[in-house]
Amino acid sequence: MSTKDIYILGIESSCDDTSASVILNGEVLSNVVANQEVHSKYGGVVPELASRAHQQNIVPVVQQAIAQAGITKKDLKAIAFTRGPGLMGSLLVGTSFAKSLSIGLNIPLIAVNHMQAHILAHFIKEEESKIPEFPFICLTISGGHTQIVKVTDHFEMEILGETKDDAVGEAFDKSAKILGLPYPGGPLIDKYAQLGNPKAFPFTQPKVGDLEFSFSGLKTQILYFIQKKVKEDPTFIEENLNDICASIQYTIVEILIKKLKNAVKHTGIKQIAIAGGVSANSEIRKRLLLAEKQWKWTTYIPKFEYTTDNAAMIAITGYLSYLNNSYTDIAVSAKARLKVTE
Ligand code: KG4
Ligand code: ZN
Repeated sequence: MSTKDIYILGIESSCDDTSASVILNGEVLSNVVANQEVHSKYGGVVPELASRAHQQNIVPVVQQAIAQAGITKKDLKAIAFTRGPGLMGSLLVGTSFAKSLSIGLNIPLIAVNHMQAHILAHFIKEEESKIPEFPFICLTISGGHTQIVKVTDHFEMEILGETKDDAVGEAFDKSAKILGLPYPGGPLIDKYAQLGNPKAFPFTQPKVGDLEFSFSGLKTQILYFIQKKVKEDPTFIEENLNDICASIQYTIVEILIKKLKNAVKHTGIKQIAIAGGVSANSEIRKRLLLAEKQWKWTTYIPKFEYTTDNAAMIAITGYLSYLNNSYTDIAVSAKARLKVTE
């Protein structure tokens, strides 16, 4: 083992996934994610239950990540952890654990901003990966955020526009809930949409600024539409599930693509990345690939496992901080609200 071998442990616990990852010089050796099934029947994440599950999962998940990487904890050079944004109780579990481990091993601690990490997941070194060139535009779409970010350097980001109300992931999840699907409904809408007609039920798009988003009106529109149809025919959802899902997904993806086109127009930047849980969506991925041909964009689509919450993205962000000698004081505290620029 050479002294140039920089092993970083990343720990993610901001919401309902407990994850740990070891990366070596920017390459992922392990990325263990424990999903919490407990929330599905409640139609959303129950914060109290999430903290408890993190408490149970964190030790075995970290042990597994270190074992899978084929190293021992003594090989680690630094511990990176999610400081925020997220649910306070969930963040506290990862933060306290990371601090203790860094004291125990006498190695640096690196606080990571979860939203920056979603974007910086693009810098994970993989055989076929395309690393973005600066400056690029990143559409960050998750369960808690919807933002267009201009990225001029690893840690230099500017929000060009964001949602005024719901995040796009919420739009997917809330629509799914209206259809009686379990949480998180985004992947299920994606699955049923594959077999449906996207033009079956037209929904109107919100009228907001060029780089702004709003999804609460769309959710209400879908709710009223479904209520009316079910009143006329109680089997409406069952009979039309694929078409309904395809129509919802089409409307949402149309909105996202339109905003990206506006961002290209405003900035002149044609290097476009997507990040966050919703970037797992098959339609947005397809449309972005198409944009390479249609509008000569250079697009960056994350590997599927780095879209939804994972610790590899925390570890790569920690690695990039480590290279800058940028460490965090042990007195750091978790922060539930943290902007991508903080
Ligand atoms: O980034 P993430 O794992 O957690 C947050 O930081 O919020 O994003 C989770 C969100 C959920 O709303 C989930 O429904 C959505 O990502 N999602 C999807 C898909 N996979 C996950 N939405 C649409 N299509 C998908 N395939
Ligand atoms: Zn996330």
